[in-house]
Amino acid sequence: MTNDALKQQAAETAVTAVRSGMVVGLGTGSTAVYMVRALGQMLADGRLQHICGIPTSEATARVAQKAGIPLTTLNDRPQVDITIDGADEIAPDLALIKGLGGALLREKIVAAASRHMIVIADGSKRVPHLGTKAPLPVEVIPFAQRLVTNYLADLGARVVLRLRDNHPLITDEGNVILDCYFANGLENPAELAARIKQQPGVVEHGLFLGLAQTAVIATRSGIEIMGQALV
Ligand code: A5P
Repeated sequence: MTNDALKQQAAETAVTAVRSGMVVGLGTGSTAVYMVRALGQMLADGRLQHICGIPTSEATARVAQKAGIPLTTLNDRPQVDITIDGADEIAPDLALIKGLGGALLREKIVAAASRHMIVIADGSKRVPHLGTKAPLPVEVIPFAQRLVTNYLADLGARVVLRLRDNHPLITDEGNVILDCYFANGLENPAELAARIKQQPGVVEHGLFLGLAQTAVIATRSGIEIMGQALV
């Protein structure tokens, strides 16, 4: 079974937790695309009715529109029933690194506004502790890029400006992303998260701590649920 097939399995398992009438946070990334399409299919065949989605990126908004999912905004519906999103790393306590898709800011805003966040992934995303496989992305106001780079380097990171087509990647909110590599992973994610937030010019970072309640992990030997059961 390919990694893509595993992502699809995780997505299709997670959407069974969505009920008619819910406001659904729609994550970003290749795994989340399967989830958005699955929700669209459930609306089309009548298994779901009257859901509306809050996309976490312009890219997801386009996929959702194509899938026929009615969209809303956090300004109109500030209480999100359930959010389903991918992740780059998942620790045993459901602490996450997110943001390799560049959408961490809207993803975190939507996750924090949600009653329940479900993470969907193939087994390769599980790690014993964070920061060992993926860099930690930090979204930064371009005006402060140099200052924040120096600050993050002082915290022990090797800092790399994220590029796309040889130019700085600009996020949906008009910022840049600094990818932070820590030689031995993240020893104390909560402390690091707090210190990163102290620096003016940092908009958000990709540590999602205490936000996810459930992870649906698809592996070659079956689906594994971490945290709260799917209901
Ligand atoms: C988007 O900014 C990210 O947080 C994604 O959710 C994460 O990178 C997972 O993406 P994939 O599902 O493509 O691995």
